[in-house]
Amino acid sequence: MSDPAARPSLGITALGMYVPDRVVPNAEFEARIDTNADWIESRTGIRERRFAAPEQFTSDVGVMAVRNMLERDPQALQGVDAIICATVSPDALMPSTAALIGMQVGLVGAAAFDLSTACSGFVYGLSVAQGLIMSGAARRVLVVGAEALSKIVDQDDRNTAILFGDGAGAAVVGPVPAGYGFQEFVMGADGNGGSSLYLRCVAPTLPGGFDMGHSVGMNGREVFKFAVRVLGESGAQVLAKSGLTSADVDWVIPHQANVRIIEAAMDRFGLPMERAVVNLDRYGNTSSATVPMALDEAVQDGRVQDGQQLLLIAFGGGLSWVAGTMKWWGGAPSLKPAPHAGVSA
Ligand code: ACO
Repeated sequence: MSDPAARPSLGITALGMYVPDRVVPNAEFEARIDTNADWIESRTGIRERRFAAPEQFTSDVGVMAVRNMLERDPQALQGVDAIICATVSPDALMPSTAALIGMQVGLVGAAAFDLSTACSGFVYGLSVAQGLIMSGAARRVLVVGAEALSKIVDQDDRNTAILFGDGAGAAVVGPVPAGYGFQEFVMGADGNGGSSLYLRCVAPTLPGGFDMGHSVGMNGREVFKFAVRVLGESGAQVLAKSGLTSADVDWVIPHQANVRIIEAAMDRFGLPMERAVVNLDRYGNTSSATVPMALDEAVQDGRVQDGQQLLLIAFGGGLSWVAGTMKWWGGAPSLKPAPHAGVSA
C-alpha cells in the first residue's frame, strides 16, 4: 500500500517515559578515567545522565515507562495486541525483553519481540508497528525503547563511558483522526560500518582490539562522520517523500548522541537549533530511548502541539539510520501538556 491516500491514519495514541533516580554528573568520571567534566560537556553537550540501580534491568525501566503512560491514561493499552521492544541492552537474548515487559503490564498473550537496530530502534519500531496494523496482523502496537546501557558499557573506557545513560520511552501506535499521524519513513543499514559500533555476542568476527568482551566498542570519529551524513540525507529523503520541505517542519526530534551532531544536521536542513528538541544534557545517549523521551518531554512541556509537523531522525549501530515524518495528534489524555507545563498549549 504505497499510495499515502489509501493508507489508514495511524499514529501515536499514548506516550510515557522513565529515567532511573541515580544522577551521574560528568565530574563523577574524573575520579576513574582520564577525562574532565568540561571536556565532556564541550565535546558532547552532556552534563549528566541516569544510571539504573544494580537490580534494575532494561525490562524494568521499560515497564516503568509504560506505567507512567498508564498513570496519565489508564485506557492507553486497550486493544494492544503486539509489543515491540527496541533495545541494544536486552535483559537476555531470550526471552525477549518485549515479552517480559508485556508480562508485567497486563499484556500476556500479545505478540512480543525485540528489535535490534540500536539507536534507530524506536523509530524503526514505529514503522514496523504501522506495517503490522496495515497488514491486519495487529490492531494497536506498544513500542518501547528501553535501555540499561550502564550494564554493557565499560565504565573504564573513556571513549564510551561518558556518552551513555539509562532510560525508557513508550508509545502506543494505533488509529488517529484523518489528516494526523505517520506520513513517511525512510530506513536503512550498512553492515560495512558494523565494526565502528558493536557489542560482541556470539561470533568473534568483530574487532577485538580493545579486548572488551561484552562491552560496547566504538570508533567515535567514524560514527560522528557517518551520523552527520545520514541524518542530513535521510531527513532530506523523508521530507521529499512526504511532499514537504524543511520549512514545513515545526520540530525535529533527533536521536540524542552528541549536540554537535544535532547542530550539523539542523544546519543541513537550514533550520535553527531552536526547532530541535534536545535533552541529552540531562540524560546523555540512551540509545533507543532518546527519541521517545525527547518527544514525550516536548509534549509534556507544551512545545509539541496538536497539528504540528514533526521530523524524527536517528542513527545507530548496524550502522543504521531512520527518518520519519508525522503530523502530531494531541487528542489523547497522555498527549496533553502536563498541568505544570511552562509553555501554554
Ligand atoms: N575525555 C578527555 N579527552 C578525550 C576523551 C575523553 N572522554 N575522549 C577522547 N579524548 C581526547 C582524544 O584522545 C583526543 O586527544 P588528542 O587530540 O590528543 O589525540 C581528543 O580528545 C579528540 O578526540 P576525538 O576522538 O577527535 O574527539 P571528538 O571531538 O571526536 O569527540 C566523541 C569524541 C565525543 C566520542 C565524538 O566522536 C562522538 O560523539 N562520536 C559519535 C559517537 C556516537 O554517537 N555514538 C553513539 C552512536 S548511537 C548507538 O547506536 C549506540
